[in-house]
Amino acid sequence: METQQEQKIIFSAIKPTGELTLGNYIGAVKNWLALQEQYFCYYAAADLHAITVDIAAADLRSRTLDLFAMLVALGINPDKSVLFVQSHVSAHAELAWVLNCCTQFGEARRMTQFKDKSLKGDDKLNVGLFSYPILMAADILLYNAQYVPIGKDQQQHLELARTVAERFNSRYSPTFTVPQGFYPQFGAKIYSLSNPKVKMAKSEDDVNACVFLTDDADVIRRKLRRAVTDSETEIRYDTELKAGVSNLLTIYASVTDTDVLAAEAEFRGKTYAQLKEKTAEAVIERLRPVTERFKKIRTDKAYLAACMKAGAERAAQTARKTLGKVYRKIGLSGG
Ligand code: TYM
Repeated sequence: METQQEQKIIFSAIKPTGELTLGNYIGAVKNWLALQEQYFCYYAAADLHAITVDIAAADLRSRTLDLFAMLVALGINPDKSVLFVQSHVSAHAELAWVLNCCTQFGEARRMTQFKDKSLKGDDKLNVGLFSYPILMAADILLYNAQYVPIGKDQQQHLELARTVAERFNSRYSPTFTVPQGFYPQFGAKIYSLSNPKVKMAKSEDDVNACVFLTDDADVIRRKLRRAVTDSETEIRYDTELKAGVSNLLTIYASVTDTDVLAAEAEFRGKTYAQLKEKTAEAVIERLRPVTERFKKIRTDKAYLAACMKAGAERAAQTARKTLGKVYRKIGLSGG
């Protein structure tokens, strides 16, 4: 067996701000599962990122447990991968401060997620939301991850992590691995079912826009039946002209482990109603065992607490080493 030194290292995380969506699964977690088979993986519930928006303490507590249990139910193996909660490893916040001081103001200001939120005119936006991608960089760089499995919406943040790593390495000496994003071939961006021009997101107002992994079968059927398509009848993968149909083909292909072109061939000559129905059934089939496992794991508080503790201890060992090295290179006597 390869040792950790020889093996490629993977890092990724998800915010516990709500339930996991089909977009989270297809864009990110599906790759987390595949990479877990070959590489040394660190996966985190990014609870420090979650407090950049208003969230009640009780909600944050229970959503962190929900996310952790869901990741285990989906197949992240806590004995194999290092699965942990970000705030349990204090080095994340500590390295984030150092990296704040290696990031130019203009670089952070260019991040589109921040720009989009600030353009909505909310003057109560906090500074954490602005420096959020720098905390992400700290998450990744602490573990010297080569690959970061994420969806398309996180690509710009990953680019910033690369810039900051390169800057630190050239200012001091080679310290951080410069990470690469790892995206699914299809499904790096799953679109809203009610508006296939925008990302599927948990925060959408329309209840039918987003499938949650905990939705029951009837809800999934209803949401897919109502998915917006177009006024034609032909099923074809064409993201420009047929965004809704292409999104459904992508979802179908992903949850049945085929590719989009094979899905397109399978549905040639079929109706939109058939595409929606078969996609709903495929999603339900994929989620059925997950939902059952989730219910069991989520109620086992002692098991979850033990997993979180073990994961944080393993993560902290690596994280502490990296942070110590960084402090020494900078001249901080805490190293
Ligand atoms: P978050 O919690 O918003 O999303 C988690 C992951 O799901 C992907 N994703 C999608 N992929 C395809 N289609 C969609 N509609 C869709 N919606 C979400 C996201 O790209 C992401 O990979 N800041 C991060 C969490 C984070 C992180 C990190 C990620 C914190 N530290 C370090 C990577 C490395 C976030 O808010 O993701």
